[in-house]
Amino acid sequence: MTKINDSYLKLPGSYLFSAIGKKVRAFEAAHPETKVIRLGIGDVTRPLTKTVIDALHSAVEEMGQEETFRGYAPDLGYEFLREAIAGADYQERGCAIAPDEIFVSDGAKCDCGNIQEIFSLKNKVAVCDPVYPVYVDSNVMAGRAGEYDEERGCFTGIIYMPCLEENGFLPMLPEETPDLIYLCFPNNPTGSVITRPELQKWVDYANEKGSVILYDAAYEAYIRTEGIPHSIYECDGADTCAIEFHSFSKNAGFTGLRLGYTVVPKKLVRDGTPLNALWARRHGTKYNGAPYIVQRAGEAVYSKEGRKEVKGLVDDYMENASLILKGLKEAGFTASGGVDAPYIWLKVPEGMTSWEFFDALLERAGVVGTPGSGFGPCGEGYFRLTAFGSRENTEEALERIRTNFGG
Ligand code: MLT
Repeated sequence: MTKINDSYLKLPGSYLFSAIGKKVRAFEAAHPETKVIRLGIGDVTRPLTKTVIDALHSAVEEMGQEETFRGYAPDLGYEFLREAIAGADYQERGCAIAPDEIFVSDGAKCDCGNIQEIFSLKNKVAVCDPVYPVYVDSNVMAGRAGEYDEERGCFTGIIYMPCLEENGFLPMLPEETPDLIYLCFPNNPTGSVITRPELQKWVDYANEKGSVILYDAAYEAYIRTEGIPHSIYECDGADTCAIEFHSFSKNAGFTGLRLGYTVVPKKLVRDGTPLNALWARRHGTKYNGAPYIVQRAGEAVYSKEGRKEVKGLVDDYMENASLILKGLKEAGFTASGGVDAPYIWLKVPEGMTSWEFFDALLERAGVVGTPGSGFGPCGEGYFRLTAFGSRENTEEALERIRTNFGG
């Protein structure tokens, strides 16, 4: 008789964004007259840029010709893309990351979820609280998270590092030593960023303890403040303790196209084994690479014109972020983030839970956000809005929030 992986049964409810989607669909069915504005899931709304579209077209043409047709992509991804990444995202920033330390994939979400497979189930995991749900969920599915404590809203086998208003929504070094530490900066969901000296402390800690940092840099393109690190490899010694994830979704708008990459430095060795070799092995049997045409589109993002276009997209979304931050403050909310990140983290009105605020915002204003408690126990009392909407919708959402919730 086939047995299921019963670790899946430990996951409470459904995936956060699926639960929200279901609620919104039910609301829309009941109120077809309301134009619902979605500032919930961090999905982009601007179309792909011209340079990217041109690259896609010409790669499609190549695929139709005998001489230029391509079959399976190389395991790590095409060299033209890995070289472009190594140059622009690392060497230009003074980080010594080589193309053979870069693994191209179909997105950071898959890599963030799958990376835990190269580590033993005996490892202790630490996450920020609140946190992007994929890090916890994938460890629960693997059987590394212990039991779900319903009262506390967290898993008994995971170390939660509270990120609270009083510490600028940044985690403190944990008392219990973790083996795997998930960090994400600019942060999803709080929009907080970390300075280089603060990040260096984590790198030093991981090297001293023999831990590995799993660093999600999906939102690095949104950093505006001078001196804030775009990559963990800007810190000394990070190449012996950190793996980094990147996405083309949030900067170049590839959420529907799918492209990302993970950096596993060759110097990163645990249990006498280079992790680069382990992750490469995984690609041989569980290939989640990106198609040739998408990798050509990714290459185009690094061209002179492509970089200008990406900057335009990011600038546009950041204008939304500024509008949201300003609008919320004018409406009497306490809000943060939105300066170096496309997420704004606000306090829900006194006496409401974050899901109650979700319902109230949807019912009274027709606006969708994300309840903070969906990101972990310390997210209760908070709410996330994204800057990825269109300008028109963002302005309209703010107007409705002011009208319905303004003091
Ligand atoms: C989010 O809304 O947190 C993200 O967009 C979800 C994702 O990137 O998978």
